[in-house]
Amino acid sequence: MKKIVLFLGVVGVFGSLFAADAQTLLEQNGCMACHNIMGKKTAPAFMGVARRNLRFEGANAKANIINSIKNGSKGKYRYFTNTQMPPFPNISATDLDTIATYILSLKPPKGARRGQGGGMGGGRGMM
Ligand code: HEC
Repeated sequence: MKKIVLFLGVVGVFGSLFAADAQTLLEQNGCMACHNIMGKKTAPAFMGVARRNLRFEGANAKANIINSIKNGSKGKYRYFTNTQMPPFPNISATDLDTIATYILSLKPPKGARRGQGGGMGGGRGMM
């Protein structure tokens, strides 16, 4: 458990350092046409993506996110089973890393939900 909290902390720090960069990448690559940071669009919100991956993928969360961006994804999110995430094979490894780190930083560590604007503080002012 301690390890997970520590991991989230590290991710959080990097996430905020690279937030501006990551947001530019998300805009430039057209991700925001389907995704929102918070709240569903035609694809799951990145906050929900962070939550799901941290819960189900654990230490593999980042690798899984990178893989899904590169190769596409389908059938993981129940509200989006009639659509899919297209593959983006041309995004560089560095950029994929920046994007994945940022997405994971959107989920606050367990227990930090209250007192941080209900856990949604990370998304405020980002859009
Ligand atoms: C055409 C719409 C569309 C675009 C454009 C799009 N996505 Fe998605 N994305 C989706 C859908 C739909 C899902 C849900 C897939 C599923 O259920 O497995 C998804 C899922 C994801 C996931 C979660 C994958 C997982 O394994 O948990 C990530 C991360 C993601 N998208 C990142 C991105 C990034 C980064 C970009 C831009 C480079 C992008 N998406 C562009 C539609 C889109």
